[in-house]
Amino acid sequence: MAFDIDRYAREAAPVSWEDLDYEVFRDSPLPPDTLRTLRYMCEIEFHTVCYLRDMLVSPSRKDPDVGTFMTSWNWEEIWHGEALAHVLELHGITVAFDEVKAKRVKLGWRDRLSPVKQSLLSNIAGADFVAVHMLWGSINERSTAAGYKRLAALQDSPVLTILLRRIAAQEAKHIAFYTTQARTRLQDNPRAQKLARLALRTAWQPVGSGVSPEAEVDHVLTHLFSGPAGRKEAEAIDRHVAKLPGMEGLTLVTQALDARGVPA
Ligand SMILES: [Fe+2]
Ligand SMILES: [Fe+2]
Repeated sequence: MAFDIDRYAREAAPVSWEDLDYEVFRDSPLPPDTLRTLRYMCEIEFHTVCYLRDMLVSPSRKDPDVGTFMTSWNWEEIWHGEALAHVLELHGITVAFDEVKAKRVKLGWRDRLSPVKQSLLSNIAGADFVAVHMLWGSINERSTAAGYKRLAALQDSPVLTILLRRIAAQEAKHIAFYTTQARTRLQDNPRAQKLARLALRTAWQPVGSGVSPEAEVDHVLTHLFSGPAGRKEAEAIDRHVAKLPGMEGLTLVTQALDARGVPA
């Protein structure tokens, strides 16, 4: 099914969150493990802009649909961060967008170099890079949506559940765009398929790895994906990926859980 990019761009909007009754958190605050996971999610949403910067030096920027999507997508992700930051703020935890950006600056040459490196690597691969980028985005958006779904199921808090469902509904549109693009670009393109498999198998790590401390990645994965219900979500992501052209047999998400000792 085609993705209507014009409609998406027209309808993209900040997630509605200001109408919810956050006062409930004063009487029944969220527990520490949930707040720790929310903080991670909030920082990753805010990090989207750095990821966007990296992609804007890649061949992806030349594709009009991808360029249009990324502009609106980044806008929606920032508002996911703002909404989560508000919940955290009510619990005395401040996550400021500017601070997250500043942290990235502190990563120093590694982070500053990454757009340059990205640019060189991606331009060598040319149009096939865009296929890899779309596939990568598809897995990450699916993982993010699964994470929100799991947190909503684990944490008994009607207000948080509504907010997470609203965010997840926007993530569903992101999944649709990336997946449609990835499928089309990988179809009948063995070179792109080979490159994508190689990139995923050698470099893919759960969303937030590399920018968040390892202890936080482990916490979030264990919190959200432990046990049969968590494992089922992870397996569903792997199944979706494996259905894309040339990706059969890949089990990135469950492998990542096993590698980090997340109990099934
Ligand atoms: Fe998001
Ligand atoms: Fe998203």
